[in-house]
Amino acid sequence: HNHIDHATAETVAEAVEHGHTHPVVPLYRDFDQYVAEGGYQVLARCLSGDLTVESVMETLLDGGLRGLGGAGFPTGRKWGFVRAASKPRLMAVNGDEGEPGTFKDRYFLETNPHAFLEGMLIGAWAVEAEAVYIYLRDEYPVAREILLAEIAKLNKTEFAKHTKIWLRRGAGAYICGEESAMIESIEGNRGYPRHRPPYVAQVGIFNRPTLVNNVETLYWIPKILEKGAQWFADHGKNGAKGLRSYSVSGRVKNPGVKTVAAGTTVRELIEEHCGGMLDGHEFKGYLPGGASGGILPASMGDLPLEFGVLEPHGAFVGSHAVVILSNHDDMTDVAFNLMHFFETESCGQCTPCRNGTEKARRLMAQNRWDLPAMEDLSKVMRDASICGLGQAAPNPLISVLKFFEEDVKARGERPEDFLADRTLGDAP
Ligand code: NAI
Ligand code: SF4
Repeated sequence: HNHIDHATAETVAEAVEHGHTHPVVPLYRDFDQYVAEGGYQVLARCLSGDLTVESVMETLLDGGLRGLGGAGFPTGRKWGFVRAASKPRLMAVNGDEGEPGTFKDRYFLETNPHAFLEGMLIGAWAVEAEAVYIYLRDEYPVAREILLAEIAKLNKTEFAKHTKIWLRRGAGAYICGEESAMIESIEGNRGYPRHRPPYVAQVGIFNRPTLVNNVETLYWIPKILEKGAQWFADHGKNGAKGLRSYSVSGRVKNPGVKTVAAGTTVRELIEEHCGGMLDGHEFKGYLPGGASGGILPASMGDLPLEFGVLEPHGAFVGSHAVVILSNHDDMTDVAFNLMHFFETESCGQCTPCRNGTEKARRLMAQNRWDLPAMEDLSKVMRDASICGLGQAAPNPLISVLKFFEEDVKARGERPEDFLADRTLGDAP
């Protein structure tokens, strides 16, 4: 298990001084442009006392803003938990975006970084955080360059005087996107998830109460406060509130980040926002929430992609990473691939996940699947793992057993040597 367990601390000023640049920084809305278009006015109203923390939290709750890292926890309520804990307090931004198929945060960082930064500074103001740690995945060097340059400009203004901004780099470990492992990593430790309670709202970075929000969650905040709760809430449909960014990939003509109504269905995403299926491909199933959110069949393509809706079917929308699969995809292979991913990324702290993912991957490498053993193992992993990684790791396997029986049967009929090059041996 190959974790690199440090995050490089570097102040923004230091990095700029060292002349860090990246050759392919895209066109994005920079500080001057953002301010010229009315940016940072909401933060200015917060700092001047024109807006109260209570009114801001109420607007976010009424607007229906939920944690868009994947868990959907109401943002206003989380801020309230942190405010109720004693000072000094801190804040962390989860920009690790490690869920396979998720790339929305990157899109926001590379197109409109100050909308996110303004939301972040409003969050820091609301919980009176002494410092903010932005934990950015190291695979986003362009986003890092942009943040370095723009935070340096921001630090010269009145807008960032109420807190200190640190930019930390992840080191390629999926588990460091789990909030307590991220906090360990920020502290300079190996990224092992912590037991909860206590929640990070009470005991977070360096044991201080810590507000943890995802990039997209913060991105929406200035707009919601500017235009009102109703404006945001009204964008949703099928019982969901607000706007959402679905990262769509797979067998569609136009994949990408689709910022549309919360509660949109996968069929609508394919037909109305992605130009339909690729030629020669027939919609067969989809991953509604990246690697961990299970796999649903095309017959369930009209369910709203919203928190709480897919759970009765053993799936969840999580970070809204929607991967479209077709009749060219064998779902047993898809699930095998995902289990191998979890095996590789398991932090190894607890046995059900460390041994369970390996054992499951070995079982899944076989042509003829041992269904009772798989079901038994899945239950142990789900019930006894410490964190979400181990608990969600069997989701794709359970989905295939439930919805794609024909693929399991067809797999059993493959010639014995068919999988010889797919068993992958031991994980690194
Ligand atoms: P969770 O439901 O345990 O927690 C959600 C948030 O609410 C956390 O910040 C937690 O600290 C807070 N919270 C919950 N109950 C609380 C309480 N009583 N008091 C104070 N705070 C409380 O979910 P978790 O494990 O943080 O996230 C799981 C989700 O993450 C999954 O749905 C998955 O889709 C998503 N995910 C996202 C990835 C990405 O790249 N964005 C990667 C992998 C998973
Ligand atoms: Fe580590 Fe897996 Fe246990 Fe989470 S469930 S603590 S990733 S071993």
